[in-house]
Amino acid sequence: MLRRGGLLGIPTETVYGLGANGLNEEAVHHIFEAKGRPQDNPLILHIPQASWLERYCADIPAAAWVLAERFWPGPMTMILRRKDIVPDAVTAGLDTVGMRCPAHALCRAIIAAADVPVAAPSGNTSGRPSPTNVADMLEDMDGKIDAIVDGGPCAVGVESTIIDLTAQPPRLLRPGGITLEELREALGEVEVDPAVTRLMGKDEHPRAPGMKYRHYAPVAPVTVVRGEGAKSAAYIASHAGAESGVICFDEYAGQFGGHIVETIGPADDKGEQARRVFDALRRFDSTDVKEIWAQCPDEGGIGLAVNNRLNKAAGFHIIEV
Ligand code: TXA
Ligand code: MG
Repeated sequence: MLRRGGLLGIPTETVYGLGANGLNEEAVHHIFEAKGRPQDNPLILHIPQASWLERYCADIPAAAWVLAERFWPGPMTMILRRKDIVPDAVTAGLDTVGMRCPAHALCRAIIAAADVPVAAPSGNTSGRPSPTNVADMLEDMDGKIDAIVDGGPCAVGVESTIIDLTAQPPRLLRPGGITLEELREALGEVEVDPAVTRLMGKDEHPRAPGMKYRHYAPVAPVTVVRGEGAKSAAYIASHAGAESGVICFDEYAGQFGGHIVETIGPADDKGEQARRVFDALRRFDSTDVKEIWAQCPDEGGIGLAVNNRLNKAAGFHIIEV
């Protein structure tokens, strides 16, 4: 399917992807159509091993090999200078390209068998939460793509960390499964792009074009309440109205009787929160809640990625308690 220009849902360790042959412009255009994705939002290329970097990237810095050695295969995407062989349709005309070697063994086997780099955004309709299992991807893509390979539920649950190695110092564009702390340990200085932690103004252009769009958002508006677990739970319990939904840590579920509640795991298990956050956001779209309140972990480790996804879903509507 990939070789003849089809659209294939692929499992990865982060989220399900909507894959097509990254060297076939027409196939790549079909990705944008199926997702309803804005044309100026570039795609990343998935490769089965780091050595493929040289086929598609120019001026590869030493830092790229350091990161590939440490974190690939794994949930990390590197932004590098592209070679001309990469179509404009993939990069949205940028002179850089995002490269990722996924940890999911079945995914790598599919790419290696196709013997083409696979362009794949997350397999959701543009703007919706990313799919972390086959059922979620079917909900958005049934009838629009050729097939989905079922590789089980995603082990990480939030998309890959994106690091821009064309910036000096290297810059974190999107937090994910490889943490900021791990990147700093490997590279020394790493800057955090402002789009990670705050709303971009109308005239600002984040380095990852996708970070400017409303994202991950359920239909009902979301408010994130940050602070110590018991305090944020108490705040939500006293402010939630009759038609509010609640996203909370397991320990506090009992405090929201009468509300539709989606738990995302224990307060001290950010890995579990990452695995469940998209599904929790998605579930509210099949209810008629009018607003959603969400507890949120601190920003350490993969907590930065959970914060980023919840904050974006909330349009950065955040209350500190
Ligand atoms: O974990 C993941 O990365 C998943 C799985 C399927 O691999 N893919 C994914 O793709 O999340 P997508 O398209 O949903 O998100 C890619 C992000 C977008 O925000 C896009 O703007 C940014 O990467 N991006 C892609 N190419 C870029 C480039 N050359 N420079 C800056 N940002 C880029
Ligand atoms: Mg996406």
